[in-house]
Amino acid sequence: MFIVLEGPDGSGKSTQARLLVEHLVSRGRQVVQTREPGGTPAAEAIRSLVLNPQFAGLDDRTEALLFAAARAEHVAQVIRPALQQGAVVVCDRYIDSSIAYQGVGRSLGVERIRELSLWATADLLPDLTLVLDLDAAEGMSRVGERDRLELEPQEYHDRVRRAFVELAIHDPERYRVISASGSIQEVAQRIRHAVDEFIAGKPA
Ligand SMILES: Nc1ncnc2c1ncn2[C@@H]1O[C@H](COP(=O)(O)OP(=O)(O)OP(=O)(O)O)[C@@H](O)[C@H]1O
Ligand SMILES: [Mg+2]
Repeated sequence: MFIVLEGPDGSGKSTQARLLVEHLVSRGRQVVQTREPGGTPAAEAIRSLVLNPQFAGLDDRTEALLFAAARAEHVAQVIRPALQQGAVVVCDRYIDSSIAYQGVGRSLGVERIRELSLWATADLLPDLTLVLDLDAAEGMSRVGERDRLELEPQEYHDRVRRAFVELAIHDPERYRVISASGSIQEVAQRIRHAVDEFIAGKPA
């Protein structure tokens, strides 16, 4: 089973990925925790390039291709092998981040970016995507401005937030929108509930 956490900057994806992994391990599952962009040495190198403020003004298509390249490597080397071994894979960001940030945020087009990403992953999609929904300003106040992408204007972040929720609304079987406001433990409880319910509802 392939579970992805998505949502805007500072919505709590990394925090909640860790807590979800603890929960699944406590239920006796074999879990692989990973993140995008990154998850392999080559993909982490692409991550440090693409998030580096030194490259402000990186061409939008270059950015989209770099994310896709990192994802291709990550799926081929880590995610697909782990799924084949029967592990639950919990991944911090995936294709929908590219759709939201590059497709909608950078206006490169949702369908173009979806196609590019699916080519990169040889059509691997998550079984379940948890969209952590949080006001962009609240997210930004949690993280501060840390990297190149977080320096974008408020309007960009608002469009990104709406894009995640739109993706979820169009595919309710594969998505759950989780309110990311409240305490870390409150959000974790919502996620555990959603994941346990999803697993219980899946045919063995
Ligand atoms: N529910 C919460 N309430 C308050 N602070 C939180 C909450 N969840 C996470 N945080 C804090 O907010 C910061 C951002 O959380 P986290 O790194 O998990 O978000 P993220 O979605 O992974 O961010 P990014 O998109 O930048 O990777 C961290 O300092 C974390 O401890
Ligand atoms: Mg994070």
